[in-house]
Amino acid sequence: MFFFMLQKFPNIKSAVINDLNSSLINAYQTIKDTPTFLVEELQKIKTEYDSIKKESDRKTFYLNIRTRFNRENLSAIENSVYFIFLNHTCFNGLYRVNSKGEYNVPFGKYRNPSIYDAETIYADSELLQRATLLNGDFEQIEKYVTPHTFVYFDPPYRPLTETSSFNSYAKEKFDDREQIRLRNFFRRLSDRQCLLMLSNADCKGADPHDTFLDDLYKDFYIERVYATRMVNANPDKRGFLTELLIRNYTTLRTDNKFISQHHSYEQSAYRKRI
Ligand SMILES: C[S@@+](CC[C@H](N)C(=O)[O-])C[C@H]1O[C@@H](n2cnc3c(N)ncnc32)[C@H](O)[C@@H]1O
Repeated sequence: MFFFMLQKFPNIKSAVINDLNSSLINAYQTIKDTPTFLVEELQKIKTEYDSIKKESDRKTFYLNIRTRFNRENLSAIENSVYFIFLNHTCFNGLYRVNSKGEYNVPFGKYRNPSIYDAETIYADSELLQRATLLNGDFEQIEKYVTPHTFVYFDPPYRPLTETSSFNSYAKEKFDDREQIRLRNFFRRLSDRQCLLMLSNADCKGADPHDTFLDDLYKDFYIERVYATRMVNANPDKRGFLTELLIRNYTTLRTDNKFISQHHSYEQSAYRKRI
């Protein structure tokens, strides 16, 4: 969403990206500040990896990098290189940590993983020049929000079933209490006249009795959209699923133009579900 928006709208002067994951934000910061150095270091690890021909040896190499990544006191560049390498060679491009906060995704067994793409890194670096990168809880973005701000929230999805509970992006669990805290924050920002969009899993689509998210966001516009789930351990479930797209505004088509109509939580007389 960030890269799409900044590419499509050159008039956007500044943007803020925030995430609790320090390695993710560190990787963006490295791409922003030192793309050439990053590409050189990524090329070194790629050359080493490509020279290993046996899958079992590649797996050993992967596990060594995973162990090093989990060590503290890495330099910013080492952390970024390992993060990007692991993301391209792990199982399904997942990011998952255990209760100690250690990255624990198994080896991906790909014949020819790309590791990195220099052109994308340079293009991203250019777009990131307009961004401020923050590493912390979502509530810290509040001070950046004005009536001219558009905020997109991409939170850990609420698990569709008890057993599919993949949302361990951090050692702190993003449970239903966190989903409620996020909705309260969404509501608070909405009263500031800014435009808000949030995506989440469609729990009701999977279980008609599970109306948790529909109830939580009942005062906003809830749209069900088809999304291809690429990150799912079960290939049968990687097809089309609906997801929720929640907004505090609606887009109306008038004279072939989209116009936004802001919806404040307070404007209860206009509450409408789509
Ligand atoms: C669905 S992922 C989105 C990832 C990100 N948008 C991207 O494309 O790289 C959910 C993200 O929420 C982050 N997260 C979890 N708890 C958070 C919190 N309390 N505050 C901010 N971010 C949080 C996780 O670290 C994870 O990266």
